[in-house]
Amino acid sequence: MSGFLVVERVSAGYGLASVLRDVSLHVDKGEVVAVLGANGAGKTTLLRTIYGLIAPTSGRVVFEDADISGTPAHHIVSRRLAMVPEGGRLFTFMTVKENLELGAFNPSSRAETRRNLEEVLTLFPILAERGSQLAGSLSGGERQMCAIGRALMSHPKLLALDEPSAGLSPGMVEKVFDFIRSVVASRHLTILLVEQHVEDALEIANRAYVIERGEIVKTGTGDALMQDQDIQRAYMGL
Ligand SMILES: Nc1ncnc2c1ncn2[C@@H]1O[C@H](COP(=O)(O)OP(=O)(O)OP(=O)(O)O)[C@@H](O)[C@H]1O
Ligand SMILES: [Mg+2]
Repeated sequence: MSGFLVVERVSAGYGLASVLRDVSLHVDKGEVVAVLGANGAGKTTLLRTIYGLIAPTSGRVVFEDADISGTPAHHIVSRRLAMVPEGGRLFTFMTVKENLELGAFNPSSRAETRRNLEEVLTLFPILAERGSQLAGSLSGGERQMCAIGRALMSHPKLLALDEPSAGLSPGMVEKVFDFIRSVVASRHLTILLVEQHVEDALEIANRAYVIERGEIVKTGTGDALMQDQDIQRAYMGL
């Protein structure tokens, strides 16, 4: 199987608890690919496996033709894969600006860090206003923007977002999706998006995978899955 990111028949879990079973998916360059599924289905575990936080028990993860299965997370970052973890995981006792600077791919290159910071602040002007504020005092939506901004500071080729709209009010959810759209348009990024807001996710995704109890049970284009009656019943309340 060829592709930009290829997950090939991966099984993984925690100790003796197996979570992912024989999961295969691929993401091509420039695509937005969504991963949908209920609570506990294994979405975060899938991202953790791709990002080297969990080693697969079988199968492999290939990025730009290199086998990266089980590669330590800090090496993954240098391959320019970035992730916005569930809940953002900001350093709450550091300022917004400090959080952003921590995301820099190459902190020794000040010029590059400054340029990345300018770009991120242009994309999310609110973060410039809040630069010296402690990250822990941001609103939920601002926190997500800061977490996305921090991930963008490493100039990633592939950005994974783990439920970026979780816990946000409907207005804020719209804002976060608007930001994702603008990032896609302005940065030509490849995105792997885990979401529970299924309609919004399918609207911006080229393709999506549905995961149930650790297995991929369905895949298709965003449009096709939007029309799929099983998906509508299970995830859209229609
Ligand atoms: N650190 C861990 N140790 C043991 N089991 C875990 C651990 N993290 C997650 N699990 C279990 O693995 C399964 C999949 O969890 P995961 O976090 O991947 O689900 P998810 O699809 O991301 O769910 P959610 O939508 O609620 O975030 C669940 O049964 C969960 O209890
Ligand atoms: Mg999760």
